[in-house]
Amino acid sequence: MTFYLLLLCRFSLGMVVGHGVRCLSQLAELPELHQMMRQTCRDYAQKELAPIAAQLDKDHRFPAKQVQELGAMGVMAVEVPEKLSRGCASTGVIVSVNNSLYLGPILKFGTEEQKKQWITPFTTGEKVGCFALSEPGNGSDAGAASTLAQREGDEWVLNGTKAWITNCWDASATVVFATTDKSLKHKGISAFLVPMPHPGLSLGKKEDKLGIRASSTANIILEDCRIPLGNMLGERGMGFKIAMQTLDSGRLGIAAQALGIAQAALDCAADYAHKRTAFGAPIGKLQAIQFKLADMALATESARLLTWRAAMLRDAKKPFTKEAAMAKLAASEAATFVSHQAIQVLGGMGYVTDMPAERHYRDARITEIYEGTSEIQRLVIANNILKEYQQ
Ligand SMILES: Cc1cc2nc3c(=O)[nH]c(=O)nc-3n(C[C@H](O)[C@H](O)[C@H](O)COP(=O)(O)OP(=O)(O)OC[C@H]3O[C@@H](n4cnc5c(N)ncnc54)[C@H](O)[C@@H]3O)c2cc1C
Ligand SMILES: *[C@@H]1O[C@H](CO)[C@@H](O)[C@H](O)[C@H]1NC(C)=O
Ligand SMILES: *[C@@H]1O[C@H](CO)[C@@H](O)[C@H](O)[C@H]1NC(C)=O
Ligand SMILES: *[C@@H]1O[C@H](CO)[C@@H](O)[C@H](O)[C@H]1NC(C)=O
Repeated sequence: MTFYLLLLCRFSLGMVVGHGVRCLSQLAELPELHQMMRQTCRDYAQKELAPIAAQLDKDHRFPAKQVQELGAMGVMAVEVPEKLSRGCASTGVIVSVNNSLYLGPILKFGTEEQKKQWITPFTTGEKVGCFALSEPGNGSDAGAASTLAQREGDEWVLNGTKAWITNCWDASATVVFATTDKSLKHKGISAFLVPMPHPGLSLGKKEDKLGIRASSTANIILEDCRIPLGNMLGERGMGFKIAMQTLDSGRLGIAAQALGIAQAALDCAADYAHKRTAFGAPIGKLQAIQFKLADMALATESARLLTWRAAMLRDAKKPFTKEAAMAKLAASEAATFVSHQAIQVLGGMGYVTDMPAERHYRDARITEIYEGTSEIQRLVIANNILKEYQQ
């Protein structure tokens, strides 16, 4: 039954929200069907992820079994990363990248044949995909991507280096962005589907990261990497547009990941405030601690509403670029703030790996960087506002 419900909720925050609740002011609670899906993910995160998250982090170990189970459960809704990240933020990003950044653009821009080839074999959950846009020389300025795609007979030949690619050591395929004509700048970029492993495609060393250490991050190096002409996703020159539209949804996933981290840090701090005594009473009796908890909850809930709102707009097929940027910005800054405060509430215990607070703090930081830094989110928001007020 639950399995069926999860399938219904595939790839949507609120298909259900869209039907039952139309107005944000009514959104005190999500509809029942949707709550059940959240509960299932939350239970899974609590039982299966939270107990192993610290060890995965320590060992830099990919949670292969858990990723496969989650894949088989078909949990694709956009805020699934929130529930998962409350237990393990690495698992949250692994699933978010697979679903928003790999599956998303193929569903939206792929031909029926491409969907059969690049999605169907993945549905057992054993496989994950990745998204290769950034390069060593250009991240925020993704339109400057210089990996080359040249046509030779009935093949595309890819040459160049993609940087920071999440999931790449564990992936079975990737969407790669490459230019067929550098002089056209971002309009020369196209998207390509490349299986992994593949001749001409190699991986750089795994990055040794501050946080989300159970997810793999590395360069993808393309040297004379040949793929059939039919592996172009969308039309020639559409790559930048595909990347930007994909990132709108991806940012919702990262907002959700950040929310999960913030919530986990708040859980940890509030629980500790009851248990720890100082000067003869639980520290939760101290107003200094209470004010911290209040500010932490406020930041988390504000970001949650922004995230739900952006997801509702997306489900209603309305523009949501600005709202996704706001959600990602608010949630990532909330995650950093809340996890920082959680360490303070825990005192010395906040600083050691016996408690999860230090991991939340390390995991939170990436959410302000990937899928567009906070500076880039502010640019996106401001550009949209200026457009709205254009005379
Ligand atoms: C762990 C991890 C996983 C990642 N996963 C992926 C992935 O799966 N796929 C992928 O393609 N990429 C991925 N990335 C790359 C990530 O998206 C980029 O690191 C990010 O977009 C920033 O680019 P950059 O590192 O080149 O920084 P830069 O663009 O060099 O930015 C450096 C600083 O300058 C600021 N800045 C740059 N331009 C402007 C501007 N116009 N206005 C104001 N400030 C500006 C930035 O905000 C930042 O503070 C990942 C990165 C990390 C660390
Ligand atoms: C990864 O995406 C594929 C579709 O491409 C999906 O079938 C699979 O279940 C996903 N895995 C996870 C862990 O979500
Ligand atoms: C983008 O980065 C690559 C190196 O990764 C570099 O070769 C290229 O010149 C950069 N593009 C621009 C337009 O700066
Ligand atoms: C691609 O790179 C290979 C070697 O890395 C080189 O031999 C080939 O000429 C390059 N092709 C193009 C089109 O630049």
